[in-house]
Amino acid sequence: MIKKIDIRELRPGMYVHDLNCCWVAHPLYPTRFKVQSGKEVDRLIELGVSSVYIDSGMGEDAPNAATEDEVRQTVESALLKIAESLGVAGEAQGITTREELGSAAQIHREAHQTIQEVMSDIRLGKHSEMERIEPAIRGVVDSVFRNSGALIQLGGIRTKDQYTFAHSVNVCALLTSFARTLKLGNDITRQISVGGMLHDIGKMRVPDAILNKPGGLTESEFDEMRRHVQHGVDILGKVSWISPISLQVTAQHHERYDGSGYPAGLKGDQISQFGQMASIVDVYDAITSTRVYHRPMAPVVAIRKIQEWSEQYFNEELVSHFIRSVGIFPLGTLVRLESDLLAVVVEHSASSLLNPVVRVVYDTGKRSRVAPYDLDLSQQSADRIVGFESGEKWGIAPADFLMAVDAPAV
Ligand SMILES: [Fe+2]
Repeated sequence: MIKKIDIRELRPGMYVHDLNCCWVAHPLYPTRFKVQSGKEVDRLIELGVSSVYIDSGMGEDAPNAATEDEVRQTVESALLKIAESLGVAGEAQGITTREELGSAAQIHREAHQTIQEVMSDIRLGKHSEMERIEPAIRGVVDSVFRNSGALIQLGGIRTKDQYTFAHSVNVCALLTSFARTLKLGNDITRQISVGGMLHDIGKMRVPDAILNKPGGLTESEFDEMRRHVQHGVDILGKVSWISPISLQVTAQHHERYDGSGYPAGLKGDQISQFGQMASIVDVYDAITSTRVYHRPMAPVVAIRKIQEWSEQYFNEELVSHFIRSVGIFPLGTLVRLESDLLAVVVEHSASSLLNPVVRVVYDTGKRSRVAPYDLDLSQQSADRIVGFESGEKWGIAPADFLMAVDAPAV
């Protein structure tokens, strides 16, 4: 049986099934192994692992530990509580996601191109006119304020070899949306967005062979990779228009609420609010992308992992607000309705986190596709979401339906 335990409860003889820490390419991920010594546990703690899943069928048991299913149920009830107590982000979207998609695609392309140029200059040791990034950031901020879903949804479409550039744009968009949900004000939001776009700039001083190495890193390569945070602070610290808030985002995006992060191992509110926000967003984007060492997690699954990790790695209250900004069922999620129809989430609802607008695409009863049509679940008492499904299992690519022209509403 798969069970979750705190890292301090891990003993020799137990079999590690999952390090529950899949955002890093550390030397032990994604290995499954039997713990041989207490030293191994100390090393895991050093690497930033705070809890693990063990397989009691393969090694010693932890009789009182929560099972995987129990953890899942706890997460689902926490999400329900967020939906009930906090509700939607409250800011009405200026226009619909579908109306914003065209401009968002253009903004995403331009921002990607500009950050790639700026970062490549740094990689080559050339002087970079970093001000060039400002119009790109303004474009992202404006798009997110018109409609927060479009640009974030586009972030899901990417290639793995351009990870660092796409990740920069996505973190910028996600952080902007997060700041908007928190109503932090235009000036602070813009400074957070700047930090989001440039937070990984220090990676340009990490050798390419380590940055894009297929498979896990060695211990020394892992240490080298971790140095990107300090490199980033060094690079941005010399730029006069980079504000302290943008610097905090860069300096603290790998810190973790329980002190297990790096480079300073800051704990709780020793990490600024902006650093705490950045750490949530950085992990969310990392786990939803294709990396050489892991397959992308569906956003709907990633949201649940972030909620699970909020017990240790993140500020729980901030995680609730992040979930409000992305949704309990993020755009593009394939959901199962009570009527056994499958549908793709195409628009957040203005009134409920649990009842978005969905596009019905498949009838599981008849095992056949249906001509797509839209349902606003906040308006309909006839149907509701009962769970989410994997697109792969049904041969459905949800993104195709999200991008498609408007379907008739019923
Ligand atoms: Fe980073």
